[in-house]
Amino acid sequence: MSDKAILEVGGKKYEFPILIGTEDEIAIDISTLRGSTNGIITLDAGFKNTGSCESKITFLDGEKGILRHRGYAIEELTKNASFLEVAFLIIFGELPTKVELEKFEIDIKGQSMVNEEMKGIIDGFPKSAHPMGILSALTSALTAFNPGIVNVNSKVDMYNAVVKILGKFPVLATWAHRRNNGLPLNYSDNSLDYISNIMQLMFKIPTEKYKINPIAVNALDELLILHEDHEQNCSTSTVRIVGSSGAGLFASLSAGVSALWGPLHGGANQAVVEMLEAIEKDGGDVEKYINKAKDKDDPFRLMGFGHRVYKNFDPRARIIKKAADELFADLNLNDPTLKIAKHLEEVALKDEYFAERKLYPNVDFYSGIIYRALGIPVQMFTVMFAIGRLPGWIAQWKEMRENGEPIGRPRQLYTGETLRPYKSIEDRK
Ligand code: SDX
Repeated sequence: MSDKAILEVGGKKYEFPILIGTEDEIAIDISTLRGSTNGIITLDAGFKNTGSCESKITFLDGEKGILRHRGYAIEELTKNASFLEVAFLIIFGELPTKVELEKFEIDIKGQSMVNEEMKGIIDGFPKSAHPMGILSALTSALTAFNPGIVNVNSKVDMYNAVVKILGKFPVLATWAHRRNNGLPLNYSDNSLDYISNIMQLMFKIPTEKYKINPIAVNALDELLILHEDHEQNCSTSTVRIVGSSGAGLFASLSAGVSALWGPLHGGANQAVVEMLEAIEKDGGDVEKYINKAKDKDDPFRLMGFGHRVYKNFDPRARIIKKAADELFADLNLNDPTLKIAKHLEEVALKDEYFAERKLYPNVDFYSGIIYRALGIPVQMFTVMFAIGRLPGWIAQWKEMRENGEPIGRPRQLYTGETLRPYKSIEDRK
């Protein structure tokens, strides 16, 4: 194949380099397009066909249902590694040695205290505030308490910023839940591993010793690993573009939290369980909801179904579905929403509408069912997604800065009014 792409406009031909990725993906580098064609741009709403960067962090193949971090298959990572081990891999590029991992865990614990003045910020929110809004605000507020600029070119500076946010983020995330439920805010328990600490931050009450359930911890560890990074999704692209302006790491992460909140993105896990509960309340009539999802006049979408990239099974959904079965068996649980989810999936996958559009269950379809089984309230599902996605956001922000990428500033095609004279108010009808 030629290493050049030819574009012909108005009888004139323009050449652009073709780039080949390490997984044989092909990209046309159009970075000289506007300059060499005297102003022509491409247009691609939602960037469905447009790459924003080169990256070494995550590879996914939507047609084959492949997801790898730094070359390691997600199936192997969930089976063999811990959340922090995968976080280290994603952020620093290699699996940590035993010594590196132990140091990483200790340094994160060393950063798990949050400035007491942060309580003043959280107290300013009404109890009805959604935890994602609180988390975004508290993450941005970290900048005020840690004003130093992260020097990406200093390994020590970057490492310290990484362990700082990994230590503090779960505390801030769970404070939103505690506050809204009139519970005292918990502190980290540095005698526990990262995931067990998240569980105690969420559920420990001061009057009793918190009993760790290893089955629940294992399920949450696996679930959060599956959320750690997913290349240039909406919230990660947000973190990158905010960071590209020179905004600090915590401010960029705060923007990522806000982007993840949307029901078409990370907010879908909450929307899935609300949908399953509505179907259950409605007598479990899944066909009715499948037809609603297919009806163009009905805004209803089958939440947890479909994906911008995966036009095959989302490999994460497969792993989560299996984990849900195992967790329910281990904890001897019987949740009608799991049965409804499986029935919904079975009916949808046989339906032409979904097959034609290659709509399969995505990461959010089953994750909410596990969160529910772990006692996590629905409003906190997307917060858990944010805790899981944090290492990916950090890694992508770090890569963008290390690569010295320019400030993100897309162009547009203007389709508004052409030049017209000012009209005085007397002449306006
Ligand atoms: C995440 O990008 C990532 O990697 C995201 C993520 C990550 O890890 O970061 O994987 C996490 O966000 C997963 C997605 C969670 N969102 C949902 O589950 C919400 C429901 N799904 C959709 O709204 C939708 O599928 C999107 C937003 C996920 C993807 O939308 P696209 O790629 O823009 O596709 P589209 O909206 O153009 O849909 C194509 C067709 C349309 O029908 P036609 O116009 O061709 O007739 O499929 C239909 C859509 O109406 N369609 C659906 C549907 N999803 C798409 N119809 C019914 N139910 C759905 N869920």
